[in-house]
Amino acid sequence: MGERWGRRRGGRGWSAEGARRGRVGAPSARLVLTRGRAQPIMRAGGYLLSMKAKVEELRSRGLAEVTAAADRAALDAVRVKYLGKKGLLTDLLKGLAKLPPEERPVVGKLANGVKTVLADAVAARRDELAGAAAAAEAIDVTIPGIAPALGHPHPLIETQVRLEQVFESLGFEVVEGPEVEDEYHNFEALNTPPDHPARDEHDSFYLGPMLLLRTHTSPVQIRVMEGRQPPIKVVATGRCFRRDEADATHLPVFHQIEGLLVDEGINFRHLRGILDVIAETFGGEGAVARVRPDFFPFTEPSAEFAISCFVCGGRGCRVCTEGFIELGGCGMVDPAVFESVGYDPERYTGFAFGFGIERIAMLRYGITDIRQLYDNDMRFLAQF
Ligand code: DAH
Repeated sequence: MGERWGRRRGGRGWSAEGARRGRVGAPSARLVLTRGRAQPIMRAGGYLLSMKAKVEELRSRGLAEVTAAADRAALDAVRVKYLGKKGLLTDLLKGLAKLPPEERPVVGKLANGVKTVLADAVAARRDELAGAAAAAEAIDVTIPGIAPALGHPHPLIETQVRLEQVFESLGFEVVEGPEVEDEYHNFEALNTPPDHPARDEHDSFYLGPMLLLRTHTSPVQIRVMEGRQPPIKVVATGRCFRRDEADATHLPVFHQIEGLLVDEGINFRHLRGILDVIAETFGGEGAVARVRPDFFPFTEPSAEFAISCFVCGGRGCRVCTEGFIELGGCGMVDPAVFESVGYDPERYTGFAFGFGIERIAMLRYGITDIRQLYDNDMRFLAQF
């Protein structure tokens, strides 16, 4: 019976009528052959055609839905919809009973073929989805890694650490003091009473009647001496605050390093020796320190100290003043300071110094504007 579909057979049973009718609405109708019987094809053939079209439609719709299924669950739903016990294809096969007996195998074969095609497509799609899921989870060890951006210390902090290392190598201990100070430690104990003109130079940030942000690191001297007896050999680094307008050389926040050495028999030459080490360490080969008389309430005698310019070597240039770069102040600890901490000024002498760390950092790295140290611009910082 199968031969009724497919090849045209040598003239036998060919019905022109059937062919003509069959052609209506479906090109495949020209394949409809009968064995020359009277015309059941008029009715049954129409039904057959619609069944065939239905099967075809299920095939193309089913395949499209299988392809569109985005995951296992969706695919399963499509499978059940078409191939399940109450699925569309199963339904259709049940409808075969309405066909004349000789037509049933034709449609049955066709429907079973579609069933196989759909089942195969479902299996293929399932493999495809499993493959995609595995690929998504897989780690490709051949892909070049993303190198993490490595940070480094800020040039200012790096300079502070370097200074601390230099002084540690000279036997100094690194200590800290509070950034919020009281007037007593920031001024009074440092021989700077309330009416002292030196207070005007420190335009301070007050937090309360007696409380302020420290204007220098010198109060750490007092805190250390209050807590222990000589010999004392310390440096203190940290932030200081003054009401300064920001410009290329000033900021309301800056860093200082403070040094204090107290013992019996300490004199100015000891101080001078330390300043020379600083000049050599930060001023480059052959650099020298220069001290000139100055005034500070907490030292007597007092001096400003400078190092020879690392750019011009002392001849004079844009960076320096007459061949020297001023770093800070220093001197022999004033006996009044010793008295305020209960040390015997007849027995002990000592020297102290203090200078800005930003200044040293700017010298080291050739930075011309102090604000660059605080802008946190990565293009600037990445250069160090
Ligand atoms: N504290 C002073 C300032 O900020 C600097 C200074 C000068 C510190 C002389 C000292 C010193 O220890 O002896 O201007």
